[in-house]
Amino acid sequence: MTNTVTIHTLPGSTDTDGAGESLRDIIEAGLVGGPRTVPGERDEDEAWAYTRTVSPLIHYDADGLKLFDQITVDNPSYYPFHDELGIFKAHGAEIAAAVGFSSASPDAVARGFDVVELGAGALRKTAYLLQAFADALPPSPNPTPLSYYALDLSKPELERVLGDLDAGYGAALARVSRVGLHADYDAGLKLAAEGKLAALSGGDAARPHHFAFIGTSLGNFSREDAGKFLASIPLRAGVDKLVLGLDGRPEPGEAGRRKVETAYNDPAGKGRAFEEHGWVVVRRELGLAPDTSIEWANRYNEPLGRHECYYRVKEEQTLHLPNRGVDVHLAKGELLHVEWSIKWAHDEAVELFTRAGLRVVQSWKAPTSEYRVWVLEKAE
Ligand SMILES: C[S@@+](CC[C@H](N)C(=O)[O-])C[C@H]1O[C@@H](n2cnc3c(N)ncnc32)[C@H](O)[C@@H]1O
Repeated sequence: MTNTVTIHTLPGSTDTDGAGESLRDIIEAGLVGGPRTVPGERDEDEAWAYTRTVSPLIHYDADGLKLFDQITVDNPSYYPFHDELGIFKAHGAEIAAAVGFSSASPDAVARGFDVVELGAGALRKTAYLLQAFADALPPSPNPTPLSYYALDLSKPELERVLGDLDAGYGAALARVSRVGLHADYDAGLKLAAEGKLAALSGGDAARPHHFAFIGTSLGNFSREDAGKFLASIPLRAGVDKLVLGLDGRPEPGEAGRRKVETAYNDPAGKGRAFEEHGWVVVRRELGLAPDTSIEWANRYNEPLGRHECYYRVKEEQTLHLPNRGVDVHLAKGELLHVEWSIKWAHDEAVELFTRAGLRVVQSWKAPTSEYRVWVLEKAE
């Protein structure tokens, strides 16, 4: 059976494919610069000091999302993808039970459930999760008791990946209706908080809306902002759950550092290609053609428990910022901070959830890394 997919563009979202001025504003704000930041307290951290930043949003236009997908395909070193997929395959039924699908009453199944995936990406792991959810539900006259909302920043990519999901898993996901939300996180969370989500699938606002935030995307938030973000997810106590996939700190020392750095800087250069594409987007937003004037640099910062990405300026240059009407001068060798992927040790994660007003229902750890999938709910 094939479901028709509708994609809704939510108002106020940042568009990564070049429509509107907001991404350019974000890029310009980072390039103007701020106070000098030294990422750590060791002598070696001085070499990674920066004043300018580049928003990670530059990674997620249609081409960037395809390059991110390449990182996950045929690339064993990117363990966050494989370990999370392994957990979904091995424990899908337990995850579905923890969310509450296997104990759903006939009335609840008739009313249906909403599942929103924040930052859905290529949906390669999602199909396994949705299938486990759908399989856990008892038979019902409701032909599609699950409504799945894939939220992401690029409309063309949403169209492509939801089409592929249909082509690849249409039969397995026959009980799942699919909706695209072309939106940033904030716009999607607002829609759910206002009780307007279910209406997009013809459901009523009182039915559960569960969230999936996987692929260790929470790692891109600072430790402080991660708590605020989790607290902003509109989970209703006793009703809604969050499925969170989050990488942990690797084993201390050289082996752990190498494992993380190789995951992001793989021998085939897929990680580098993805990261350096972001500079193409920066230049596009500034009205400039692609160039090779920067290179990507990365490291695992063990004391701070995070993988860090930078652009190193290879050629001194002046960039004109059209919205602000100013020029910025980038010195040769200067580092621009792009993003980090914060690793949350088990106890740090539990403290984070408590800070966000959440409680752990259950968690699963990957056998060969500290990657975990958590099912969380609002603490009463
Ligand atoms: C690390 S990738 C993970 C993709 C996918 N969930 C996975 O597990 O492979 C992060 C995803 O979040 C999306 N994303 C990043 N920032 C976002 C934002 N502010 N609003 C909506 N989506 C965002 C990106 O476009 C990308 O698809």
